[in-house]
Order: sequence, then structure tokens, then C-alpha cells
Amino acid sequence: MKAIILKEVGGPENLILAEVPVPTIKDNEVLVQVKAISINPVDAFARRNQAALDMIYTRKGDEENIILGWDVAGVVIETGKRAKKFKLGDEFFGNFNFIGQANAYAEFVAAPEEEMVIKPANVSFEQAAGATMAALTAWASLVKFAKVKKGDKVIIYGASGGVGHYAVQIAKHFGAYVIGVASGDNKDFVLGLRADEFFDYKTQAVEEFINDADIVHDAVWVEGDVSSTEDTHLARSLKTLKHGGILSSIVVYPDQQFIDKAKAKKNVTVQRVNVTPNENYLKDIENISQLLSTGEIKTHISHLFPLADMAKAHEIIQTKNTVGKIILVP
Ligand SMILES: NC(=O)c1ccc[n+]([C@@H]2O[C@H](COP(=O)([O-])OP(=O)(O)OC[C@H]3O[C@@H](n4cnc5c(N)ncnc54)[C@H](OP(=O)(O)O)[C@@H]3O)[C@@H](O)[C@H]2O)c1
Repeated sequence: MKAIILKEVGGPENLILAEVPVPTIKDNEVLVQVKAISINPVDAFARRNQAALDMIYTRKGDEENIILGWDVAGVVIETGKRAKKFKLGDEFFGNFNFIGQANAYAEFVAAPEEEMVIKPANVSFEQAAGATMAALTAWASLVKFAKVKKGDKVIIYGASGGVGHYAVQIAKHFGAYVIGVASGDNKDFVLGLRADEFFDYKTQAVEEFINDADIVHDAVWVEGDVSSTEDTHLARSLKTLKHGGILSSIVVYPDQQFIDKAKAKKNVTVQRVNVTPNENYLKDIENISQLLSTGEIKTHISHLFPLADMAKAHEIIQTKNTVGKIILVP
């Protein structure tokens, strides 16, 4: 089968199309014919960072080639002895084995059935593949951690990106008043997602306009930021919150000093939120699947590439300025 292998840690040019064996499945796995793959900034991070790769690949340690990728949609073509959830021909999607070895940049992949859900028939493979890690992160941030509800004033930083564009749609689904923040070029896109207001972070400091938000979803790390100091992005986000608000950080790990200060000054709860498969993972992706099928959330696909163009896709994802999702098809 064709797969994209990582020749060695480094730039996107190290991602190479190669012929490798079709994987054999374990008892709890299914063999998937991959129809669409999505990528995230962490893919580029793993590609260029030896420590991250070591962490991913020591989970199994039986790899012959380094193949990245965690987000797929595809068709079940073989089931393991103990895999009872799906039958041959089922169409499903999911983010699996994160942050271990998933090997999804390929024509076929072995996936643990417990981490996948059926794809709604009215949703394309490309749409479903996008709504995996990024949508699960938005869900973890706004629904599980912040418990967004009708009437909440919610600020979404990075509103035009992979996570952010789902976050805007999810917050609107729950009836929130949504303020999207991205660069001015993406204003129409973010308002088109039904955000109620837009701020251009390049020309406007949101904290100069808003100090009564219920929830901030912060997806920004600015080089040099140390979380306990006053001029970091997280500290600026804190200023936009009302007393008792929620600050969900999906990038920066707030230190204890910052967490204590936010509590003491404004009774704000701050947490770094991660997408990690846990006992509720299946429920979360089923909820996302439901919202996809009713059209309440849509995946905006800014780039649709053949698998062979993975290096090109990585060039884009590492700019940190992706609009919506980048999807690849084998
Ligand atoms: N915690 C987790 O489990 C988890 C999971 C997934 C992703 N993440 C992290 O979350 C971040 C966002 O992921 P993503 O997939 O959405 O990335 P992405 O698709 O590259 O989107 C980045 C977004 O950030 C915006 N942005 C850049 N600088 C900004 C600033 N100073 N203020 C406000 N917005 C700014 C960009 O807007 P413009 O293009 O308009 O400039 C773009 O909308 C990444 O750092 C990623 O690694 C964390």
C-alpha cells in the first residue's frame, strides 16, 4: 500500500510517499480502507521534534517505518477476532491512539474499534475526517470544561482555525453569544460561522473592549510568554472575563501562580484542556457525529490534497494560519 513515511526528523520535505506492507490487525482492531485524513499542528510538531516522536513510538516500538497521523475516516474491510462493533463495509471516523502510534497517513490502517464511531451517511468522508481531533478539542474546552450554556458570552481566540471554527459553531449550537478573534482577512469567514462579533487580533486588543465574558477559549501562545506574568496572552484573556468566569487554555499550561492569582483576583477558573481519549471519548465523538449529521457543525475544508502532497499540507499547517481544516485523500 502507499503511505507517507517520515524519513527523519525535520522539515516537511522529509515526508515521503512510499510502498509499505498493509498492516496486520490485532484482535480488537479493524482494518480500515482510509478515505480521508486530516492533519493538525501537532503533526508538524511531531515531525520536527525527536522527543515527541520518541514518546509516540515507544508506546508500541514495533514500527518499521515512521508513519504519522491520527485523524481518519474510512471503510471497514476486515475485523479482528474480538472486534464486534463494526461489520465489513461500515463507514466510520475517529481520532485514535493519540498521542501514541496510529499510522494514519496511509491507504490502510489498523484501528482499535473502540475509538471509532459510525460516520453519518449524509456526511462525506472528508467532512468527518476533519471533525476529529480539532472538533474534540473544541468540545473538551467548551462543553466538558467550560460547560457553555445559552446566553453565555464566549470569546474564541483562533476562531478561523481548525479547532476555533468548530468552537464557534459548537458555542452557537449551545445558544452562546460568540465573539470570534482572528486576523482581519478571516472576518467574513468567522462571521459566516454565525459568530456575533469579530475582533482582529492584529489591530485590536480584545481586553480593551470586553471585561464581562463568561468563557474564554484561548488558543494562542505568543513567543516569550511565561504564564504568571502580566503581559502574556493568558493574562490578557483573564482581563476579558467577568468575576467567576472560565478560562480554557488549549495551548499554554498556566502555572500555579497564575491559577492562584486568577482565583484570588476574579474567582476565575483556569485550566489547560487536552484532547485525550478517556472514558467519555466515545460519547464526545458521537455528539460531534450527531451535530455533523444535522448540519449544525460543518467542516470547512480550505485545502483538499492527494496523500502524496503531505509535505505541502505540512507547509501550510505549520504556519499556524490555517483556515478550517486541511484534508488529504489516498
Ligand atoms: N490541547 C489540545 O489537546 C489541543 C488539540 C488541538 C490543537 N491544539 C493547539 O491549539 C492551537 C490551535 O490549533 P488549530 O488546529 O486550530 O490551529 P490552526 O488551524 O493553525 O489555527 C490557528 C488559529 O489561530 C489564529 N491566531 C494566530 N495567532 C493569533 C492571535 N495572536 N490571536 C488570535 N488568534 C490567533 C489564526 O488566525 P489567523 O489565521 O486569522 O491569523 C488561526 O485561526 C494549536 O497551537 C494547536 O497545537 C491543542
